[in-house]
Parts: sequence; C-alpha cells; structure tokens
Amino acid sequence: MSAIELVKGVFWVGVNDRTTELFESVWPLPQGVSYNSYLIVDEKVALIDTVKGPFALELVENIEEIIEPAKLDYLIVNHMEPDHSGALPLLRRLAPRARILGTEKAGGLVRALYHLEGGFEPVRDGQRLSLGRWSLIFYETPFVHWPETMMTYLTEEKILFSGDAFGGFGALDGGIFDDQLDLSRYEPEILRYFSNIVGMYTNPVQRAIQKLKALEIEMIAPAHGPVWRKEPERVVGLYDRWSRMEGEPGVVLIYGSMYGETELMAEQVARGVIAGGAPLRVLDASRTHLSFLLAEAWRYRGLILGAPTYDGGIFIPMEQFLRLAQRKRLQRRVVGLFGSFGWSGGAVKAMKSVIEELGWELVEPVVEFNGRPTREELEQGLALGRALAERVRKALE
Ligand code: FEO
Repeated sequence: MSAIELVKGVFWVGVNDRTTELFESVWPLPQGVSYNSYLIVDEKVALIDTVKGPFALELVENIEEIIEPAKLDYLIVNHMEPDHSGALPLLRRLAPRARILGTEKAGGLVRALYHLEGGFEPVRDGQRLSLGRWSLIFYETPFVHWPETMMTYLTEEKILFSGDAFGGFGALDGGIFDDQLDLSRYEPEILRYFSNIVGMYTNPVQRAIQKLKALEIEMIAPAHGPVWRKEPERVVGLYDRWSRMEGEPGVVLIYGSMYGETELMAEQVARGVIAGGAPLRVLDASRTHLSFLLAEAWRYRGLILGAPTYDGGIFIPMEQFLRLAQRKRLQRRVVGLFGSFGWSGGAVKAMKSVIEELGWELVEPVVEFNGRPTREELEQGLALGRALAERVRKALE
C-alpha cells in the first residue's frame, strides 16, 4: 500500500504485514497487522514512528512518493519497540541531518537497540515544536506500552498520534480509516491486542486517557490498525472500558477435556448460563490460542473454568491460561468452577487457589466429579451455569 493523505500535508506511509505469523514471536496474526507511520510535510518535515525492520524499504518507497527522504528534519519516536523503530537505522543513513526526537528513555533505547550515537534530542512532557505553519506537542504516556512511550499531537489539525494506544491487530484492508473499514472485524482484534499486549498496563492507560481529556481531538492515528477520523471517541471508549476491567454482561466458558467427561459437564453448565439469561461464548482451551482465551475473558464479566486433573494439578492448557491471566493482571471477574479427577482430585483445588490469589469472586456451587459425571452432578452443573449468569447480570445492574 502506498501513501494515503489524512489531511493536506499529513500522510500515512505505513505498511501492512500479512506474513508474520506471530507478533512478538508469541501472538498469532490471522488477520495480519499494520505498522502505521506518518509523514508531516510543512516547512520542516517530520516522520512519526517507522515500521518493523524487514519492511523498511517499503516505508522508504512510500515516503519517496511524497518527498525525498533526505529532506526529513525530524524522526519522532513515540515508541521504541522494534515494530515501530526498526527502520530507524536505514532512515538515519538516508536522512543523516534528521534529528531523532523522543523521551529521555527513548534515547537510551535508540543506543541500546541500534547503537546509533548522536542525532538524538530528548523532548519534555508538554514541549512544543514548530514545523512552520503547524506545531506539535509531545505528551509523555509511560508504559503504554513501554516506559519511554509518548504521544504526539498536531495542534492545528487536532490529530493525536497515539503510538500503541488505541491500536489493534489486523492489516488495513484497502482503506485506513474507521469509516472505510468493517469495524466488526477489527474490534475483536483490537481487544485481543489490548488484552495481550497492553493489558498489563491498565493503570497507565487510564492515566493517559485522563491526561489527554482536555485535548480537542478530531482524529486518532495509532501505530497499529485503523485511523479514527469519524469516531475517535469510539476507540477511546473501548480502551477506557477495557482498562477499567468492568466487563460486558456475559459469560465465557473455557474448558479443557481429555476424553470427554469434562466436556459433558461443560455442555450442561453452558445450558445453565443460557437458562440464566446471559450471553455465552464457549471455548476449548486445547484448541484455542491463549491470546483468544484472554481476549474473551477480558470482554466478559463472567468466567467459567472447567478442567480435568492432570499430574495431580490443573490440565496444562487451563493452567497456561490462568498463568497468562495472572501475568496480565486481569481483575474483577465473577467466576464459576468445575473439574474432574480419576483417582484423586487436584484441578479444582488448584484452580480455586489461583482464583483466590487473583481476587476473583467465586460463585457456588463448585462442581467436582469423579470420572463421568452422574445425572445429579450434571444437575449441579446446570445450577452453576444459572447462578453465574444471574450473578453477572446483578453485578452489572
Ligand atoms: Fe506496537 Fe509496543 O509496539
């Protein structure tokens, strides 16, 4: 994809990545991802963020459609993770007089990651930079997503270049703007990005949202995913809600099952949730990548977990999910539990202990059964589903 104008003189010059399988070598990218880079052409020329290293040439070609890269005055780094800074070394060679601007901490990362010496100038929180008829203001927003992160605001056009914040997975299909794209396809990928990449930093996200509240914003141009010109408040609202971890009034049931006994119970619990009147999503932990499990757990207030006992503890895919939820500090969940065992228990007890550590609210009955569940035990499963649905509805009334 080549350059696209946001407003006169401001261009998207980023790239779509449809070939990387795993973002950060961890998170699957079934719909790809975009690395958004923005060019501002005024009396001075500034580039805001770059792209991942292997796409550097494509970025340069996009810039060349507008201006000779040698004419760049500023390389602004909102964020130094290499999916945005990977083209810095090449641009430094093509535009040797350009100054690299970022927070003090970004300077350390420029040296650490690329061994680039000289040419870096730290900017302060609230500092203004005149480009000619336009000016930029820099706002430090640490830990959204790394400690050095900042956002850049183009005052006259009221465009906020927000870095990772308000971004998401998903390559940009043809257009780049929210009013050109099918957002129902992008929003689940924005949530998966938020929960897995930014989720650990919900307090910094809240601080950034509060800090930027006073700004008049007509367009949000993040470093990944759609550019929000029609409804910038929509993506801010999503990030605000997700970072408060309230959850929607619904339930995700995540289960694992080796030979079908726990699955049998999962079906009954699911029926109970529907009978209790809550929307439900059922996911098999063995066949669903952890990142999708976490995203759905982040979406809904209600969470039901079911697993067999394995090696005297929690079935491995469920244990991995719980570890990730713990790592990402998911909070405020209302939880139901069920589990099976062959000769001695273990899974339910261990899951309970993780839930206590997480401070999640446990809803009774907890259903534990030996081997294949009996009719009475399946009735308990039904009651569990119903109780959880009712609790979730009440929690969000
Ligand atoms: Fe998209 Fe934290 O980098």
